[in-house]
Amino acid sequence: MRLTRLKRAGFAALVPAIVPVIVSVFALGLALPVLAQDAGGGLVSRGEYLARAGDCAACHTARDGKPMAGGYVFSMPMGKIVSSNITPSKRFGIGNWTEEQFARAVRKGVRPDGSHLYPAMPYPSYARITDADMKALYAYFRQVKPVDAAPSVKTSLKFPFNLPGMMMGWDLIFANSGPFKDDPKLDAQQNRGKYLVQGLAHCSTCHTPRNAFMATDNGKYLAGANVDGWEAPNLTSDKVSGLGGWSDAEIESYLKNGHAKGKAQAGGPMADAITHSLHYLSDQDIAAITAYLRTVPPIRTEGQSKPSWAVGKAQPVDWTKIEPGMVAADKPGYRATDNTDGAQLYNTACAACHGINGQGSDDGHYPTLTNNSAVGAPKPNNVVMAIVDGIHRKGADGMAVMPAFSASNQVIHDTLSDAQIASVANYVTATFGNGSAKLTAADIPQIEAGGAAPWLIRNAATLFWVGVAVAVIVILLIIAAVVMSRRRKSAAV
Ligand code: HEC
Ligand code: HEC
Ligand code: HEC
Repeated sequence: MRLTRLKRAGFAALVPAIVPVIVSVFALGLALPVLAQDAGGGLVSRGEYLARAGDCAACHTARDGKPMAGGYVFSMPMGKIVSSNITPSKRFGIGNWTEEQFARAVRKGVRPDGSHLYPAMPYPSYARITDADMKALYAYFRQVKPVDAAPSVKTSLKFPFNLPGMMMGWDLIFANSGPFKDDPKLDAQQNRGKYLVQGLAHCSTCHTPRNAFMATDNGKYLAGANVDGWEAPNLTSDKVSGLGGWSDAEIESYLKNGHAKGKAQAGGPMADAITHSLHYLSDQDIAAITAYLRTVPPIRTEGQSKPSWAVGKAQPVDWTKIEPGMVAADKPGYRATDNTDGAQLYNTACAACHGINGQGSDDGHYPTLTNNSAVGAPKPNNVVMAIVDGIHRKGADGMAVMPAFSASNQVIHDTLSDAQIASVANYVTATFGNGSAKLTAADIPQIEAGGAAPWLIRNAATLFWVGVAVAVIVILLIIAAVVMSRRRKSAAV
């Protein structure tokens, strides 16, 4: 399954670290040697639950690989980052790590040898994990089946991201929060929810936009962000842009099952989060997350005046234009897949499941496309990405599968070209949504790529050398100033 760029992403970071890098290479502190402390068996099942809440397996298991043996590849603008083997193998995994060393890696992103992880591993969120939960996680990871092999692929980053200590400055500035403490303004249930949302379940990693340094922008906490081409929507309590108009039951159904009838369904990275993590959570924890989300201060998405799920009365469709007469002598134009007529393509590729009027099936298994947050959203990304990637999800109430239609993801039946994907997406938003798409073929690969990498990341190599040049000039100027003042002094004597 394709995981998210963002998952890959927290990581990037780096550039602010450029100057500190030079310094930090000399300053790498080694982890304190600490006493090994094995936790008892009663903790293991709690640790397993917490590992699910943290979604560790999704990132630490390669496609068709052994559980937790690493090898999942995150392709990012700065290169390839490969997840580590975190089984208790002494040679290839974390078998020799003490609980303190484990905790430091998970919370601070620092290995026992002092090297820093890239935030493709969500340690900025895991920093919130309490000591008691860390103990349980450690106990669980002690007894996972050891895998005595290194991941078959190695991390390979482009210059300057491959310099040792690159992440140190970034960590100092952006990954400095401590374990979670109860917020006195919230009740016990809301605090439990906050702990999960900000910590193990790392919702912010995907739902909070990032600043130029690729750290989460906490001024826009949970206001929505792009992940691997998908838009992770606004989760604040705002009535128009956020979850303010959702009932508790709808939020709970979405988190547990992956869909809420007449509101939304989970594809892409959110489908992964539900399949591997959220659908395992207890009803109490799902209710706690919901209770906490209610308390998140509202942020309105600029220009939005109607909730995305409230958009859409299906426009009347003139089907005689598309299915002229339905008699044997008719040209099978309505089955054509070689043109870019959005209505015909919809009829051929989508209507069997979503209905000719986009109404879906009565039981909601095939969702309506009106009153659908993907179709009514300000941006058409999730309509496009659902067509490109399809949907594969396991929730608490079963599977949801929509086929992928792009040539790169589809092997079984006819595929749609970028031009066709653009025109069927335009048709879907115009007919069932707010008509916002207006896409051309060229937009599709751009949406898939999730937009260009931040300027700082693209220009990191140049910036690095500029930084070095400036540092050298400054040092030369200081030396010159010192020499001059000495000369002046000795001349005066
Ligand atoms: C979103 C993906 C993702 C998730 C979720 C994730 N990890 Fe990681 N983790 C990574 C990546 C990628 C690395 C390697 C980073 C690097 O090499 O800089 C890593 C590295 C680690 C390491 C360091 C091991 C080593 O020797 O390099 C530990 C320990 C670890 N993860 C534990 C966990 C635990 C425990 C969880 C669940 C609570 C977890 N991870 C969840 C992606 C993830
Ligand atoms: C790996 C990235 C990722 C993580 C982690 C994640 N989400 Fe999402 N979320 C998304 C994406 C992408 C969507 C859009 C899915 C779609 O429309 O198909 C989404 C959609 C949603 C929606 C539907 C909103 C709407 O208006 O349609 C809710 C609610 C939600 N997420 C809540 C959460 C909560 C709560 C957490 C943490 C417990 C979380 N998500 C963690 C990526 C993520
Ligand atoms: C084989 C049945 C099937 C076909 C064919 C199909 N879909 Fe879907 N579609 C689904 C299912 C199932 C879901 C997800 C339902 C859920 O998550 O509960 C879905 C979800 C969606 C969503 C919501 C995506 C999101 O992330 O929220 C959109 C938009 C969509 N389909 C559009 C289309 C379009 C456009 C086509 C034709 C190009 C199409 N579908 C073809 C079954 C289908």
